[in-house]
Amino acid sequence: MVKNFRPRVSTRGAWGLRRGLGTVVAIICVVILVSFAYIVAVGSENGGGLWREAAMVQFPATGTVTEACDLFEGRWVYDSLSYPLYKERMCRFMSDQSACQKFGRENLKYQNWRWKPRDCDLPRFNATQLLERLRGKRLAFVGDSLNRNQWISMICLLDSVIPDQMKSMEANGSLTTFKAKEYDASIEFYWAPLLVESNSDDPVHHRIPDRIIRAQSIERHGRHWMGADILVFNSYLWWRREKMKVLWGAFDDKDGIYKEIEILRSYEMALKTWAEWLEFHVDHLGTKLFFMSMSPTHFWGDEWGIDSNQNCYNETEPITGEGRMGRGSDRKMMHVVESTIRDLRERGVNVQMLNITHLSEYRKDGHPSTYRKQWDPLTTEELANPSSYADCIHWCLPGVPDVWNEILYSYILFK
Ligand SMILES: *[C@@H]1O[C@H](CO)[C@@H](O)[C@H](O)[C@H]1NC(C)=O
Ligand SMILES: *[C@@H]1O[C@H](CO)[C@@H](O)[C@H](O)[C@H]1NC(C)=O
Ligand SMILES: *[C@@H]1O[C@H](CO)[C@@H](O)[C@H](O)[C@H]1NC(C)=O
Ligand SMILES: *[C@@H]1O[C@H](CO)[C@@H](O)[C@H](O)[C@H]1NC(C)=O
Repeated sequence: MVKNFRPRVSTRGAWGLRRGLGTVVAIICVVILVSFAYIVAVGSENGGGLWREAAMVQFPATGTVTEACDLFEGRWVYDSLSYPLYKERMCRFMSDQSACQKFGRENLKYQNWRWKPRDCDLPRFNATQLLERLRGKRLAFVGDSLNRNQWISMICLLDSVIPDQMKSMEANGSLTTFKAKEYDASIEFYWAPLLVESNSDDPVHHRIPDRIIRAQSIERHGRHWMGADILVFNSYLWWRREKMKVLWGAFDDKDGIYKEIEILRSYEMALKTWAEWLEFHVDHLGTKLFFMSMSPTHFWGDEWGIDSNQNCYNETEPITGEGRMGRGSDRKMMHVVESTIRDLRERGVNVQMLNITHLSEYRKDGHPSTYRKQWDPLTTEELANPSSYADCIHWCLPGVPDVWNEILYSYILFK
């Protein structure tokens, strides 16, 4: 990185303007080298290691000096001047799962929070700049409904700068593709909630209580993302159970062998299959790979000082005070992802984990709660007790996933 800044200073016969320029360039270089050395020193002083280092993004601040910053540590700042980044009603592709205002939410403060990393500011999202970067490319989100939540946020962030006739949306099975025609760019979502093949792979009808995975099979999904230039994966909430039924053999094969496997072990098996697929099917240098860490839920009020049978229903403010890890977020599963990614790195494949868990934990106010489309009619008991059907998993838009995308944006543009 520093190499790029090595100046061509001429020492022979350097007079007048030329000499002046050389000196300026040399000074700038010294400043850059010193700040780089400082950054490295601070990084290792903090006991960083692999993860801390990987979490650092450097982006140009005032032209010459680079700034290094851990984007995942910080606080939420109320900022109704610059947020929201778009209007719910103006986004043509908004989902009824996230359109909280449309479904009656009156307190809209959840739209106005800005994430402020401790040591820097997130660069402002510039849709045109991202589209320029995506020219002729494919950005694909692969995973579950939280990843779809983020994909819709991304489309809404880009939507306003693309004229109507210059964009399209097309669904084909598990793959939905948004196209910005002027840029020949696609932003895709592929439904694969457990990453590997499962009996929940139908993009619409996937509410199956007896969940089964084929832990060694991912090819049927993978061929749809092959060739994407940027891949953003997630997979967590569908694993929140004690055991997973794993199948060896095909779904329609009568001789298939089924085994109930403890969840950490089956998660590890699936991620191993995923990692191997990446190792052999993506261009190690040309493809940018990301894994979104688990998205937190807010089902237990005692985690923020109210009754334990209360949840995100009726919450309008973020949690204040020190960061915490809720009971819905399983560190052990995060460690499985970390070690899978570390092994991949040793094999020459770099996947960047975007550690959005901690920053999203504060946002008990950001969920749709009761303000979203209900797929099934509500019962009288449910109506009498609204918190019983509150969605404390997904996120309203504009909202928290916009910040995940601002972070993704920083990595795509500046890392
Ligand atoms: C994620 O970020 C939080 C807050 O900065 C930190 O405490 C945690 O260790 C990070 N986890 C990983 C895996 O980097
Ligand atoms: C966004 O980026 C475009 C292209 O790089 C630039 O022309 C424009 O001024 C930027 N907009 C803002 C608000 O910075
Ligand atoms: C849908 O996807 C299948 C398989 O990838 C492909 O063969 C087919 O042409 C696609 N259909 C449309 C309408 O794009
Ligand atoms: C919702 O919150 C408001 C304001 O905090 C409070 O007055 C009201 O009683 C709450 N409603 C329920 C059903 O908890």
